[in-house]
Amino acid sequence: MKKFLMMIGFVAIAAMTACGAGGDDVPVEDDTPVDEAPAADEAATGDFDATAAEDIYNRSCIGCHGQNLQGGGSGPGLIDSGLSVEEIVHVLEQGQGLMPPQDLEPDEAENLAKWILAQ
Ligand code: HEC
Repeated sequence: MKKFLMMIGFVAIAAMTACGAGGDDVPVEDDTPVDEAPAADEAATGDFDATAAEDIYNRSCIGCHGQNLQGGGSGPGLIDSGLSVEEIVHVLEQGQGLMPPQDLEPDEAENLAKWILAQ
């Protein structure tokens, strides 16, 4: 008789667990569009942190390259320079002509380069 009651208890727990599993499907479905959104952005514009890039630009570049990357002070405009991300990173790391090398982390330089190309 005890065994029979234990069986009923087991079935009840199994049924509750099954319901719980059914409920878990909802957040999984919610995640799907969130996962797809960054992938689509990446294909269109490259993946970069605009806030971080602007921060560095305003601190380190604006004096020579102008408020809107149009050039000004002593540097050329950076819009439509025809440079790749790698070439911009190279300029930032090595400097070029009158531009001194910039003291940035490699990922900061790459993020900034992607942002410049998106302007
Ligand atoms: C002290 C002034 C100065 C600062 C600060 C400066 N630049 Fe420059 N930059 C220049 C000058 C001058 C050139 C042109 C160099 C040359 O080709 O003779 C240049 C060139 C460049 C180029 C290459 C443009 C091309 O068409 O070849 C890029 C890209 C660039 N700068 C990005 C930046 C970024 C991003 C920053 C901030 C992290 C920055 N620069 C900070 C003066 C500056």
